[in-house]
Order: sequence, then C-alpha cells, then structure tokens
Amino acid sequence: MALIFIAAKNIEKCHFGDTICLIRTMNSIIRHYPKGISEIGLPPLDVTHFNLVSVLNTTTKGPIWLNFHLRDNINKGFNNATIIHVDGFDQDPTKKQIEIKARIPRILHEANYDMEGKFLLFKANSTGKLTSDFQNFELTLIVKVFVEYRQDKRFLKIYSLVPNVKIDRWIIWMDDLYKENSDLTIALNRAFNDHWVEFWNDLEPGLLTEFKISFTGLLTTIFDRVSYDDMFLSQTEIYGSSLFE
Ligand SMILES: *[C@@H]1O[C@H](CO)[C@@H](O)[C@H](O)[C@H]1NC(C)=O
Ligand SMILES: *[C@@H]1O[C@H](CO)[C@@H](O)[C@H](O)[C@H]1NC(C)=O
Ligand SMILES: *[C@@H]1O[C@H](CO)[C@@H](O)[C@H](O)[C@H]1NC(C)=O
Repeated sequence: MALIFIAAKNIEKCHFGDTICLIRTMNSIIRHYPKGISEIGLPPLDVTHFNLVSVLNTTTKGPIWLNFHLRDNINKGFNNATIIHVDGFDQDPTKKQIEIKARIPRILHEANYDMEGKFLLFKANSTGKLTSDFQNFELTLIVKVFVEYRQDKRFLKIYSLVPNVKIDRWIIWMDDLYKENSDLTIALNRAFNDHWVEFWNDLEPGLLTEFKISFTGLLTTIFDRVSYDDMFLSQTEIYGSSLFE
C-alpha cells in the first residue's frame, strides 16, 4: 500500500510492541490529520456525526425524571485527543489484548432534543437545541483480535472491543425549555447542571454502546485496509522509515 502522502508528514513507523513509539505515531497522525485519512478509513476527527448520546430514559420515580431523545448529533473535539497509553501490538497481536487510552480536553456536543420530564417542581415537555460540553474526557478501548492471512500478509479482525469512559464535568444547555418563560428555562438548566452526575449515570450505558459500535466500525475498516505487517517495521527495515510506504 503506497500512501506516500503520509511519508511527507514524517510519521514514524514503529517496531512491534514499541508502545512509546506507537504513542508518538498515533499522536502525530491525530495532529496532522484532523480531517482523517479516507484511504485508510480514518474518519474526520474534528467534527464527528455518531450518536454520542441517543436516548436518556431515567426512571419515572423520584423528583427528577426524563425521557430524552436526541437527534442530529454533532461532536467536536476528537482532533484534540492525546493518546496517553498503549499496550499490546506485539509481533503476535493475539498474545496480549490491545489497550489504547486517550484524553480529550473537551468534547462539544450539539443536537436537537425532544424531552418529557419533571425536575423537582417543574414539568417539562419540549423540543429544541441542546449544546453540551464533556470536560476532561478519558476514553479507554480494550480490543481483542485474531489474525487472517491475505496474500501472505496478516490482517487483524476484532472479536471483542470494550470501551470505558470517564469525565470530570458535564455542562449542558437546552434552549427553549419553556418558550414562554426564559427564567424558568434558566432555572431548569441550572437544576440539570447541579444534578449532572445523576444524568451521566443514566447516560453512560447508552454512550458506551455507541462507542463500542463506532470504534469497532472504525478499527475494522482500518485493519481491513492496512495489513498488520505493513503498519510496523519489518526486522530488516531501518528504524525511522515512514509509515505505509
Ligand atoms: C423508558 O423506560 C421505560 C421503563 O423502563 C420503558 O417502558 C420505555 O420503553 C423506555 N423508553 C425508551 C425510549 O427507551
Ligand atoms: C481544539 O484545540 C484547538 C486549539 O487549541 C481549539 O482552538 C479548539 O477550540 C479545540 N476544540 C474543541 C472542541 O475544544
Ligand atoms: C407532551 O406533549 C405532547 C404533545 O403536545 C403530548 O402528547 C404529551 O402527552 C405531553 N406529555 C406530558 C407528560 O405532558
């Protein structure tokens, strides 16, 4: 596979299992290709369209409940991700699970919402625009693979991918909660932000499902287009030669 344009950006190819080098290379790709690399199946990172949040469906008992549906989701900020930990990617990729951990300072999320619910004394039943900000987002992917041969080269196939997510704070703003009463809209947004942890706990399982689907799709495409052997230096190559030449 001759992806010469990557060579132009001096992206370093690594030895199997050299996780320090891999962290450097992955971060270099993220920095140089915010719009993705369609040839290898890497989608744009600056604006992504997958459903970061699809449905929030809290229990109807208690002072706060919500049925919440989001449409037209856009997420910004994956281009600012920093890979902080990598494990696996050994000569034999099935020997050890692959682990990738990334930190993202903030993910800005925009969507249209439909909501029915109750916060304390307020009832809500509305539709409008939502913006939210996930701060200090930490994403870990644990991937297990098997190997398939094509033309004497090894290609990875995923048989298990488990995501894990942590955040420090979730800030939410919903327009038009009460079209006729902006004070109430402000009060309700404040209540929502004071109780963000409860909403986050409800949101997390759905979010993890979305991440599992999105990252399995993304990595499946990349692993299908670039053979595992071409991603790394062979024993005879000189250290520091470029990726995918
Ligand atoms: C929300 O939860 C209730 C009760 O658990 C369930 O009956 C309902 O179908 C759920 N709605 C959605 C949209 O998931
Ligand atoms: C990503 O980083 C750039 C440069 O620091 C910044 O201008 C931009 O707002 C960041 N994007 C998000 C979504 O925070
Ligand atoms: C919300 O509004 C819709 C349509 O106006 C209505 O069908 C529904 O019953 C309302 N829900 C609540 C909880 O008031």
